[in-house]
Amino acid sequence: NRIFQGLREKMEQGLLPQWIFTDPHIYELELERIFARTWQFLAHESELPEPGSYVTRWMVDDPVLLVRTNSGEIKAFLNSCPHRGTLLCTADFGKKKAFTCPYHGWTFNLDGDLIGVVAGDKVYGEEMKKDEWGLRPIPRVERYQGMIFGNLDPAAMPLDDYLGDMKWYMDIILGRSDGGMEVRGLPQRWVVHANWKVGLENFAGDPYHVQTTHRSTVELGISPQDPLYAGYGHQVVLQNGHGINVITATAPGKPQRPPYQGLPQEMWPMFERNLNADQLKVFAKTTVFVGSIYPNLSFNSPVHGSEGHLHNYLNVRLWRPLGPEKIEIWSWFLIDKAASEAYKEAAYKGYVGSFGPSGTLEQDDTEIWARIVHASKGHMARSKDLSYNNLLNYLMGLERVLPDETFPGPGVAYPTCYLDAIHRATHEYWLELMSKEEESAGENGCES
Ligand code: FES
Ligand code: FE
Repeated sequence: NRIFQGLREKMEQGLLPQWIFTDPHIYELELERIFARTWQFLAHESELPEPGSYVTRWMVDDPVLLVRTNSGEIKAFLNSCPHRGTLLCTADFGKKKAFTCPYHGWTFNLDGDLIGVVAGDKVYGEEMKKDEWGLRPIPRVERYQGMIFGNLDPAAMPLDDYLGDMKWYMDIILGRSDGGMEVRGLPQRWVVHANWKVGLENFAGDPYHVQTTHRSTVELGISPQDPLYAGYGHQVVLQNGHGINVITATAPGKPQRPPYQGLPQEMWPMFERNLNADQLKVFAKTTVFVGSIYPNLSFNSPVHGSEGHLHNYLNVRLWRPLGPEKIEIWSWFLIDKAASEAYKEAAYKGYVGSFGPSGTLEQDDTEIWARIVHASKGHMARSKDLSYNNLLNYLMGLERVLPDETFPGPGVAYPTCYLDAIHRATHEYWLELMSKEEESAGENGCES
């Protein structure tokens, strides 16, 4: 409790202790106070195209089975048999009429009902009430713009409220085209030695790293020469730890980049139908949208290629924690359903070569993230004494860069993306969630 109080003060000064990225006790507390209470991304609805389609996912350590039922509804269950707890479905995805457990053979239908018990009539009597032994549902499942989220807390605020103003930006990124977006291929996944908050930070508010970490792309002629290019645009702080960078990549006074992220002109009337005037104004000027939905979902909607052959897509990233020092990255490629097949394929190749597991930009980032863990495990980095010299610098723009009131979108928008404003807000939300238990215990008169 005392540590959290001292922390609040330091965070207000733009300082963050290095141990929050490696401390095992902090990690255990995060599982309980953050991941068991906030909305976590599960799947995009296009991954479950027809009745019987299923995918298996994880909410940190909780295995999840998502199924499209015969009525077309999408349901999510704990992927663990209610008989003895074994992992029920071991495949990543597929199509089934029912799920049979590999241990004693109980069978569940798409609605999760227990419909078959091996030798049921002979081995059970009235003690077995089949309707009480269906699959256990994930307490809350809600979706926005095709993105399905789950929450382990039955009393959590509705997803709509949780996303808040992020929905305005999701409408542009996911809802601009008729039919929305679709997942192409399968989500790829790989393990990286990094803390989940580093992935979150990097996408949520760190365009500043681009000019150094991804220097090779400038040298190869893929990225512009101007070292400030990823900073042009707005960094927008949203509620509940979310944030987005709306990057124009265009210096003031310089010619605009192609509108609507270089998407083909025949698609523009569709955008005008699906978005409002302010959304169009923001979308028209944007080259890259990059941001995060708290706690562990990030997205990047970049532009690849050269004039006349530009491609845009949406890369969605989940940072699944596997411990304080390890994450499993899940990476989805999404594209406008309404785009041509040739466009989709070309954009997919652009993604694989850049942000796929073996992509050039991907390699740059994750090696650095692993070095953070590497350098944050020693005595100095771990000391809980806040007067000790282990506080990191989150000062960029603090109290100096002021919001731009003329920005048409919601949230607190700052007129540059080279700024630690989202980082500070994200970590403040982290602290709010992490210290909640103490506050309520205090209210009840308990000493902790
Ligand atoms: Fe699944 Fe026994 S554990 S049927
Ligand atoms: Fe990067």
